[in-house]
Amino acid sequence: MMTSAAVYGGWVFPQISTRLCTRCAIFARPNGVSFRHRKRFFLTTNCVSDMAVTIASDHSYGNKEVISVTPHIYDYLLTNVREPPILRELREETASMRGSQMQVSPDQAQLLAMLVQILGAKRCIEVGVYTGYSSLAVALVLPESGVLVACERDKNSLEVAKRYYDRAGVSHKVDARHGLAADTLNSMIENGEGCSYDFAFVDAEKRMYQDYFELLLQLVRVGGLIVIDNVLWHGRVADPLVIDKKTESIRSFNKALVDDERVSISMVPIGDGMTICRKR
Ligand SMILES: C[S@@+](CC[C@H](N)C(=O)[O-])C[C@H]1O[C@@H](n2cnc3c(N)ncnc32)[C@H](O)[C@@H]1O
Repeated sequence: MMTSAAVYGGWVFPQISTRLCTRCAIFARPNGVSFRHRKRFFLTTNCVSDMAVTIASDHSYGNKEVISVTPHIYDYLLTNVREPPILRELREETASMRGSQMQVSPDQAQLLAMLVQILGAKRCIEVGVYTGYSSLAVALVLPESGVLVACERDKNSLEVAKRYYDRAGVSHKVDARHGLAADTLNSMIENGEGCSYDFAFVDAEKRMYQDYFELLLQLVRVGGLIVIDNVLWHGRVADPLVIDKKTESIRSFNKALVDDERVSISMVPIGDGMTICRKR
């Protein structure tokens, strides 16, 4: 079911409270609260371009309207995203580069940045940086003392990202790690950084999702948030005829998560929602 992606802050931060129009909510709870199951919070997302373009409303959906995002609706959505100029410049530069379709969309980046703010995150991890759009969106909202460990195996795209961190004046918050992300995450664990991160975003090799997840569970604190992109994988996971390795891998990852008691989960197709972060 296509829903409005929406986020509530389950508690009030001094400078941030949130209010959203919603049919779907992601709840997170602050660290320090007594958790019965000591869960980390886990959010899965899927970019809007993955949505099937159909509109349905019948009994099989409990008579709820199912809205799918068309290019027309998506254009409207983008005109209502607040995108910092530096991010727009990066998006425009990336548009002519190989692999530009991999970049997260402005609405996704906006949600990531908001989640980081709601969480009051100071220590973040990104797996799969490309030219840096999502990582820059996160770095921009981190406090001055914050850090984002940005893992990327492709040197050339990481150079673009670093150039933009510089231009945006956030280089001091970003620890860019060139190499295989699993190696970087393992070395962080060996370094004694377990349970010291608040937030992680995974947007890299799909067949590694389960591995990234297990590593990040060790690095992200209880009450922290792990966001995984592309869990609907352009809709392929829902088509039993599609059995390529990436699709199968994401499918089994999604299935495993449903029964994983270590985390609270929310699968969110990002689309027609609008998230509002009230600053004052
Ligand atoms: C979908 S793109 C990331 C897009 C990025 N989040 C953005 O907003 O622009 C995936 C990136 O992950 C990188 N990647 C893939 N496998 C990797 C691995 N094993 N270790 C590190 N980076 C990897 C790719 O080089 C690519 O740049």
